[in-house]
Amino acid sequence: MSQLTNTGSRRRVEPASSTITASHGEILVSARGLQKSFNDRMILKNVDFDMLAGDITVIIGKSGSGKSTLLRALAGLTDPDAGRIVFDGKVVFEDEERTDDWRDVESHVGMVFQTYTLWPHMDVLANLTLAPRKRLGLSAAEAKERAEVALAEVGMSQHLRSRPSQLSGGERQRVAIARALMMRPKLLLCDEITSALDPPVAAEVLEVLRRLKQEEGIAVALVTHDMAFASKAADRVVFFHEGEIAVNATPDEAFNRSTNPELKKFVDAVRF
Ligand SMILES: Nc1ncnc2c1ncn2[C@@H]1O[C@H](COP(=O)(O)OP(=O)(O)OP(=O)(O)O)[C@@H](O)[C@H]1O
Ligand SMILES: [Mg+2]
Repeated sequence: MSQLTNTGSRRRVEPASSTITASHGEILVSARGLQKSFNDRMILKNVDFDMLAGDITVIIGKSGSGKSTLLRALAGLTDPDAGRIVFDGKVVFEDEERTDDWRDVESHVGMVFQTYTLWPHMDVLANLTLAPRKRLGLSAAEAKERAEVALAEVGMSQHLRSRPSQLSGGERQRVAIARALMMRPKLLLCDEITSALDPPVAAEVLEVLRRLKQEEGIAVALVTHDMAFASKAADRVVFFHEGEIAVNATPDEAFNRSTNPELKKFVDAVRF
């Protein structure tokens, strides 16, 4: 949780990152035995999943295999029926519910979706500052300063006052990433954020993620069909098959040496 300290009449926010202790290469998120059913159909069967701080994990798998459900569970948007999630050493989900510690870490988890979720009637600055002003109690000046930094990180500084309708698809997705960065996440969950974009534009957006990993040490979990990005930028490739993680390996192991027949079929189908 952001540390709120009283300085006179206004509450100030310490940098959110001060409460996260996992450093690069250490386990940031760990899920064990996650299960989730919808309408009596088991979507997550028994998912064990670890992510290291500063890693990019690419999640692939057929439509309906449970990829988004896993991301939503990690983001706190869906509660699993069973299992346990540990974030930075704190149990944040157990016995079918979020624990008090979840409140402490949830602002470190950001999520970006496939379709643009920006408010159309607000400019970029307002889109970015709304949540941090409300949730962290930032002043207008503090929030604007943070927005300028976040936009610079995604190469969109010149669009502070643009409206979403004035931006291209790739630009909107970069603003959506900047908006997630406003809360200074340690984990960024990206669900097919480039699926609606042309390949060169998609590559630019994905390059932003790679820079965030390198420069900010942010861990990224990314559902994508972009195998080129997966093979060159991922630290881990996770292949979902029918609600289970069938392969969890380096890109080289997953794409060149895996003997898993379902993964081979999937990769061939996506490549050609
Ligand atoms: N809120 C919900 N209510 C009912 N069923 C759901 C819900 N969310 C997901 N499902 C079902 O769970 C299954 C897995 O969905 P999920 O979105 O996790 O798949 P996915 O791997 O992300 O697929 P895609 O590649 O198409 O996005 C699907 O069959 C979906 O219809
Ligand atoms: Mg999905």
